[in-house]
Amino acid sequence: MNGQFMLAEIEEQPAVFERILRQGQERIQDVAAALSARRPRFILFVARGTSDHAALYAKYLAETQLGLPCGLVSPSTATVYDTHPRMEGVLYIAVSQSGGSPDLLEPLQRARAAGALTLAVTNAPHSALAEAAEFHLDILAGAERAVAATKTYTAELLTLYLLVAALAGTAEPALDELPDRAHRMLSTRSPAAELAVRYHFAEQVVLLSRGYNYPTAREGALKLMETSYLVAEGFSAADFVHGPIAMIEHGFPVITVVPDGPGRAALQPVLRQLGDLGADTLIIGPPDAAGQGTVGLPLADLGPEVLSPLLLIIPVQLLAWSLARTRGYDPDEPRGLRKVTETW
Ligand code: F6R
Repeated sequence: MNGQFMLAEIEEQPAVFERILRQGQERIQDVAAALSARRPRFILFVARGTSDHAALYAKYLAETQLGLPCGLVSPSTATVYDTHPRMEGVLYIAVSQSGGSPDLLEPLQRARAAGALTLAVTNAPHSALAEAAEFHLDILAGAERAVAATKTYTAELLTLYLLVAALAGTAEPALDELPDRAHRMLSTRSPAAELAVRYHFAEQVVLLSRGYNYPTAREGALKLMETSYLVAEGFSAADFVHGPIAMIEHGFPVITVVPDGPGRAALQPVLRQLGDLGADTLIIGPPDAAGQGTVGLPLADLGPEVLSPLLLIIPVQLLAWSLARTRGYDPDEPRGLRKVTETW
């Protein structure tokens, strides 16, 4: 069957969550204690592609839960423009499934030499990146064979969530329910397949969300682009109204990822605007989130908003998988891509 690896890895996500919660927490607590003892003043993340979206989630988390200034580094400032930034007081976190891209290694090495506290979060404990950092966290996702990352993305999200929670000294009781909630998300496979038919001939789609789920919109767009070859762009709904909304005309496809919580309230104004413009809007979120003029992929029991990105991406992964197959592509073999992309 086309796409068997990607589907199996999507379906493995509840088990990966379970593994991280059972086997990964002690190491995460130890690393967090060692990092806290050094009292970082800023956090910088470096990553590419899907891992960059996990880093974006961690940036929101660290800003909201730790109150520290955070940023995403542009690797090219080191690799192309040969910059040596000052790094005292910085916790520098590289996020990468493979630990294999040279343009993550070089900035991390420079950051460490310049005095940053360095941590690599990878699925490859023997990679050059893992070895170059002072600390390493293994995301425990197991081998990933599909080119399109799915279980490594959510494993990065959970590992980074647990790290920030340990740094903040907080614990989210809903964590225990996460594997079951993720399991329930897998039942969206057949509604996602039905929805894929709507996008069979689509050439473009916009994905929107806010806050913790802005990375879900970005990651969902990446999954749709790499498996189904349509132009998909993920935006924060706030950024979207600062210009891109001008693209929207009657029937323009928009997918909105709606969590429960403040992010949902923040999405309401843009949803009203999209309704007025006659956009073809799909709402992926709570059952009562889809209003008149929209189509819903209803998801009950999403739990706390802060953990919802680990769940809301699952129906979008399934949509991307189904759409690729509907359009006659093999989602396991996106054209022109390999599992590890080396950039400088
Ligand atoms: C997309 C995907 C890529 C990688 C990117 C970074 O599904 O897998 O976008 O995330 O090439 O790779 P790593 O995480 O290995 O550094």
